[in-house]
Amino acid sequence: LDTERFIARLPKAELHLHIEGALEPEMVFALAARNGVALPYASVEALRSAYDFENLQEFLDLYYQATQVLLTARDFHDLAASYLRRARDENIRHAEIFFDPQAHLRRGVAFEAIMEGLTGAFDAAASAGGPTSRLIMCFLRDLDEADALETFDKARSWLDKIAGVGLDSAEAGNPPSKFARLFERARAMGLHVVAHAGEEGPAAYVAQALDILEVERIDHGVHAIDDPALVERLARHRVPLTICPLSNIRLRVYPDMRAHPIRRLMAQGVVATVNSDDPAYFGGYVNANYLAVAQAFALTPAEIATLAKNSFEASFLAEAEKRQLI
Ligand code: HPA
Ligand code: ZN
Repeated sequence: LDTERFIARLPKAELHLHIEGALEPEMVFALAARNGVALPYASVEALRSAYDFENLQEFLDLYYQATQVLLTARDFHDLAASYLRRARDENIRHAEIFFDPQAHLRRGVAFEAIMEGLTGAFDAAASAGGPTSRLIMCFLRDLDEADALETFDKARSWLDKIAGVGLDSAEAGNPPSKFARLFERARAMGLHVVAHAGEEGPAAYVAQALDILEVERIDHGVHAIDDPALVERLARHRVPLTICPLSNIRLRVYPDMRAHPIRRLMAQGVVATVNSDDPAYFGGYVNANYLAVAQAFALTPAEIATLAKNSFEASFLAEAEKRQLI
């Protein structure tokens, strides 16, 4: 069976997707026009050709700049609806979706606008046969913990629509330990907890996310490969990694897919999942990420199916919900 078709037909869950990273250049221009926002790019092509990154920070600078076109509930709705249509077409049955409230609140966008827009699109997709979605509120680790705690307070009346909290943005020099109180508070409120760790940062940040933040999954986590005892710990406790292969290549975490550690992590028993991160920027949605890994390592259909099965195991769905979706 042709690998591409095999991947396309597999039911999958996506667990590492920044909704702001699904903002395609065409939509940047459409929303800029609708909202009267000036852009420093002459055309969709000029913007797309700026998507050539040396590292995480260069990407983040463009990502935060593009988010400036997101102003109204309708904008957030259209963005989420566009991602979910794409996800449905790729046979994604369930998505656990990050958003960055601090990137919007600091521009004067109200929490209500973000939440009404996103959850409206989630509900519409779920009623139309899927995918189902959950929301993970991410905090920007390059800001201080006080800003995160203040933002968490603003989310109070929306917590019934938020499944968990996460940590993203510039990793180097911003260790998980900086957010110990925030995560303690989130756990005490019964929220799920995840964190980006070991993307550009060291294996020690992955260990900190486990020990100090007590996260249930690690986002990226690829640098765990540098610490064999840590890899063994992830495997033994079945702590999933939400790996984003094309992102790691585009942000030059690894020079090419053959150098990526996903295959070695799988071989050592780690619950690896494959995700798109910021698909509008990194050249592919979920199926393209599966295909890139499958081709680089000549994965068997059984190995590819294990990655998809892992995505449901690693999700926050209840067991009965998983059985319904697979
Ligand atoms: N890494 C860290 N922060 C992010 C990313 C990423 O890949 N995408 C959006 N915010
Ligand atoms: Zn990410």
